[in-house]
Amino acid sequence: MSRRIIPLADISAIPDFSGVASAPSGTLTDTLARPLRDLRISVTDRCNFRCVYCMPREVFDKHYQFLPHAALLSFEEIERLARVFVEHGVEKIRLTGGEPLLRKNIEYLIERLALLRTPEGRPLDLTLTTNGSLLARKARSLKDAGLSRVTVSLDALDDALFRRMNDADFAVGDVLDGIEAAQAVGLAPLKVNMVVKRGTNDQEIVPMARHFKGSGATLRFIEYMDVGASNGWNMSEVLPSAQVVERIDVHFPLEPLEAHSAAETAQRWGYRDGSGEIGVISSVTRAFCGSCTRARLSTEGKLYLCLFAISGHDLRGLIRGGASDEDVATAISRIWEARGDRYSQLRGSASAQARDDAPRVEMSYIGG
Ligand code: GTP
Ligand code: 5AD
Ligand code: SF4
Ligand code: SF4
Repeated sequence: MSRRIIPLADISAIPDFSGVASAPSGTLTDTLARPLRDLRISVTDRCNFRCVYCMPREVFDKHYQFLPHAALLSFEEIERLARVFVEHGVEKIRLTGGEPLLRKNIEYLIERLALLRTPEGRPLDLTLTTNGSLLARKARSLKDAGLSRVTVSLDALDDALFRRMNDADFAVGDVLDGIEAAQAVGLAPLKVNMVVKRGTNDQEIVPMARHFKGSGATLRFIEYMDVGASNGWNMSEVLPSAQVVERIDVHFPLEPLEAHSAAETAQRWGYRDGSGEIGVISSVTRAFCGSCTRARLSTEGKLYLCLFAISGHDLRGLIRGGASDEDVATAISRIWEARGDRYSQLRGSASAQARDDAPRVEMSYIGG
């Protein structure tokens, strides 16, 4: 199968907002009756790690063309778009990348986003996904800027394996220090996300569970997905979440917990001794598209309706072309109301096969 990296040339269309304007009602739904509640904003396509499953060094090498600064949405543009999304019902904003802490003055953006309020007057759940390498240094300023919490990606505790997986020689101790610093300043609840690749880091499941049990951080195990075009994904490398739970349960007995909400990605399991919980995110073996309320805004301002989408809607083109906030709101309603994406549910079916052969966007570009 010939897969390729999505070209950064513009293959996305500027959305249509002609005709009758639709004012935001806070209750936008798509063709599968899924509301728009979460917005994930990628603030940079760069990362200081080269995780083999996300930005493999053979592809993301010194010749790789990252976006020029002028192509990125400015903080003012992000804030403006975010405000319209919030008027449409978004309650949670997650900043992602690449590595979001590499974006200069990210605290300024956080300050602006922290001022947004839902139509009912509530503050947003404002969070960020980071690889943790700069977190020890930045935890305090992020908290002061108004960030609610953080999620740290961590795939192994064993230092040699961790260095191999990030392929940039980062030490695990620095990430653990970052996690501690974030907890110390009250960026809570802190979550730790571990992507499990069978044969690569599955031996780290129990040590990771042991390490974070009782720490106040929630460890979540993610099934390795066929996202992006450059990781050469193979089903044999997926360890089903049910087996993750079995392996931990042998050492630390678990019981299922109620979901916080229907849109939650993770299934929750509690330690029977009351020392906290873990989560499993079964994007491959138990897809959760039926309750997917997530929209993704790429680094250069394209709106993607699914992690596996082939193309996005060019909101940057829209606003740089002089569209008013009302026009943007109308465009977003049209786009969301036409949404029918549910790739993970269809994986393996004929329509998904056609999509499998098409170019995919990288996770480092639209954000996990
Ligand atoms: P919380 O609000 O903290 O629970 O966050 P979340 O679980 O919604 O988001 P997070 O970024 O922590 O998601 C963890 C992982 O789940 C991601 O890195 C992806 O691997 C996977 N994931 C998140 N959202 C989606 C999605 O919409 N589709 C699919 N297929 N996987 C997703
Ligand atoms: N499968 C599952 N999760 C992935 N991530 C990146 N690539 C994949 C993949 N192929 C997620 C990880 C990482 C976050 C930035 O994106 O959770 O921590
Ligand atoms: Fe960077 Fe996260 Fe991708 Fe690793 S998974 S290369 S830390 S963006
Ligand atoms: Fe949502 Fe697409 Fe993920 Fe399904 S595959 S949960 S529709 S982002």
